[in-house]
Amino acid sequence: MLDVFIINALSDNYIYLLRNEDKNITSVIDPGEAGPVIKFLNDKSWHLNEVINTHHHHDHIGGNRELLDIYKSKLIAPSYENKRISNVDFLVSDDETVNITGISTKVLHTPGHTLGHVCFYMPEEKCLFSGDTLFYLGCGRVFEGTMKQMWLSLVKLRSLPDDTSVYCGHEYTLSNMKFANYIDSQNTLLNKVSLEIKNKRNKGLPTVPFNLGIEKKINPFLRSDDDNFIKSVGLRSNNNASEAFKEIRYKKDNF
Ligand SMILES: [Fe+2]
Repeated sequence: MLDVFIINALSDNYIYLLRNEDKNITSVIDPGEAGPVIKFLNDKSWHLNEVINTHHHHDHIGGNRELLDIYKSKLIAPSYENKRISNVDFLVSDDETVNITGISTKVLHTPGHTLGHVCFYMPEEKCLFSGDTLFYLGCGRVFEGTMKQMWLSLVKLRSLPDDTSVYCGHEYTLSNMKFANYIDSQNTLLNKVSLEIKNKRNKGLPTVPFNLGIEKKINPFLRSDDDNFIKSVGLRSNNNASEAFKEIRYKKDNF
């Protein structure tokens, strides 16, 4: 049984602290800074066994060194980013099954935001740690890969079961929600979810985790191959999903 704790970091990053009480294992995913993680662990009197990174950006790995120094934790990171993340103990690659916090976890290579980005999917726990690939109602900016690569990465995540809970790397939901409503204003499910999101943010609550099944129906980036959607929102690129994805991504980048 896994417990996931959400730690706020930097301006809008989420660090995930994973705890397996039965096995007395604690892990952290994407510690952009060490301070809040150390404080959390001190409060609980837990040791930190594992540090896990989804990709090499500093706001996801900035706390690695200090945590490894203090706790002598094992660092698990994508093999594709080996040259850009230091002190890695276990390199992981696409489709590999690894134990994280003592839980069987599938590694999914999702290039686009960075070329070596990976996501971590735990089938038994029904949860996905999506880093900066999939956000609530959005997706990461395409910095290193091609638009087609990013689209195919999102398709890979979209193929996971509907009852998956998604934990993403940033609280970008309100801004993503504004764009999704701009492009897809007639979507009644999106309208309903938007109210829930506003309520949460008004109370200062995180909007993660979110449900993947619902996301498949309301995240415009996940619907780039839905010709009815593409036509209804006035995009030009029907019958070519990666071109439609590119068009939506450009619109969002300039929104
Ligand atoms: Fe990033």
